[in-house]
Amino acid sequence: MLRQSLLYLSTAGWARSMATQWSVARRVARRFVAGETMDEAIAVAKQLQEQNILSTLDYLGESVGSEEDTREVVDAYQKLIERIAAEKLKATVSVKPTHVGLDISEDLCLNNLRHILTTGKVQGVGVTLDMEGSAHTELTIQLYRTLRDEFDFLNAGTVIQAYLYRSEEDMQALSTEGSHIRLCKGAYLEPPTVAFPLKADVDANYVRLAKVYLQASPASYLCLATHDENMIRQTEQFLAMSQIPSDRYEYQMLYGIRPERQRELAKKHTMRVYVPFGTAWYPYFVRRLAERPANVWFIVKNMFA
Ligand code: FDA
Repeated sequence: MLRQSLLYLSTAGWARSMATQWSVARRVARRFVAGETMDEAIAVAKQLQEQNILSTLDYLGESVGSEEDTREVVDAYQKLIERIAAEKLKATVSVKPTHVGLDISEDLCLNNLRHILTTGKVQGVGVTLDMEGSAHTELTIQLYRTLRDEFDFLNAGTVIQAYLYRSEEDMQALSTEGSHIRLCKGAYLEPPTVAFPLKADVDANYVRLAKVYLQASPASYLCLATHDENMIRQTEQFLAMSQIPSDRYEYQMLYGIRPERQRELAKKHTMRVYVPFGTAWYPYFVRRLAERPANVWFIVKNMFA
């Protein structure tokens, strides 16, 4: 119930404008957001790299309303990629398709992504298309395939969400195509007609999808994005038992969540942390609260700190 209310609030414009003007919320959001500027995100990526942890940087924002606004986003991503290369960081970038125009037009989004991926290709930086709500799943997967196969962007990747019923079929197909996939549980409010409502079913599907994908083809790469100890344990067992080489997968977590575990995993596997930055932190932050309602108490405590 609390999860659903928070996920509703993550998309409510009135709640966004209230929260973003509230200094306590801004301060608390810093637990999950590297900062408002690129410099702050780069500083976090450097600190992570010193601990043998790679990063993927996300310039926060989604559902941009005009073509002009998407130009600023493309420009910001190109500068970010150039900075990653100049600083010799082992980092990729993550982009939400609606941040570069998917809600305006598919062609605009494709073109914008081509610009970002071209800079990425030149600088040797990977670009992952984040996955948003289920209304965008089909188009995002299509965009990924078009960019990878028609435009030859081997630096492109995308995300599959274990809570969607359709994901088993998607993972099976993607596993044989030499894909670069991040597997996560899924962070949006979805109806039971498209997504498993029960955590136990999502968890079982997560492990099933990881196995299906890793068994299919040695040409595909899997990013195991989860903080769930049970998912980590089960996938680690499978990787060891099936002797999956270490260059075919990595673990991923979000900035600010389980940092000690991130450092531990980095001793055994390739470990990457998702580092978001920018002023449009509100929906990202509220989705993090929804994942763990105990985080709401963290806010309440900070209100009186
Ligand atoms: P689950 O939510 O079951 O949590 C398991 C345990 O992890 C909790 O008991 C707690 O200990 C810890 N934990 C989880 N979330 C926490 C939080 N917010 N604060 C504190 N502790 C927490 N989603 C999506 O829809 N599209 C996307 O593109 C991405 N991209 C993405 C990238 C990366 C690198 C990660 C790690 C995650 C995503 N996600 C995402 C989010 C993902 O779908 C999911 O919502 C979260 O990872 C939470 O799911 P867990 O697998 O961690 O398990």
